[in-house]
Amino acid sequence: PATSSAAQPTGLAVCPLNDIDEGGIGSTYLEDGTRIAIYRVRGEEVFATDDKCTHGASSLCDEGTLEGHVIECGLHLGSFDVRTGKPVSTPCTKAVRTYAAQVRNGTIWIATEPSGESS
Ligand code: FES
Repeated sequence: PATSSAAQPTGLAVCPLNDIDEGGIGSTYLEDGTRIAIYRVRGEEVFATDDKCTHGASSLCDEGTLEGHVIECGLHLGSFDVRTGKPVSTPCTKAVRTYAAQVRNGTIWIATEPSGESS
C-alpha cells in the first residue's frame, strides 16, 4: 500500500511513550550533548524543550514540575509554557528552546533542531 505522503521519519527516537507517565517528564540527549527534557502532558500529547532553565543552571527534567502545559523550574520557581518555550512566570524572562515532538507507533520522536528561535 502506498502510504507515503507521510515523510520518512526523521529526528531522534526517544523512548516508548509509556516510559513516561501522563504529567511526567523524561529526557534524552542530542548528538552534540545537549540535554532535552521531554514532557508527556496527556495521552499522545508530548513536547520537548532544552533541559536547562534559561534563568540559571537548573535541570527542568530533574528538578522541574509539570503542571498542565507549564513546566516550573525547581530552583527559583520560574516557569515556561512547554508548547512555545515562552516564559510564564518570573524570574524566567528568556524563552527556552523547543523541539517538535510527536508519537509514532508508540514511540516518542523529537526533531534534532530547535523549532525556530523565539526571543
Ligand atoms: Fe530556573 Fe532560576 S534556574 S528559575
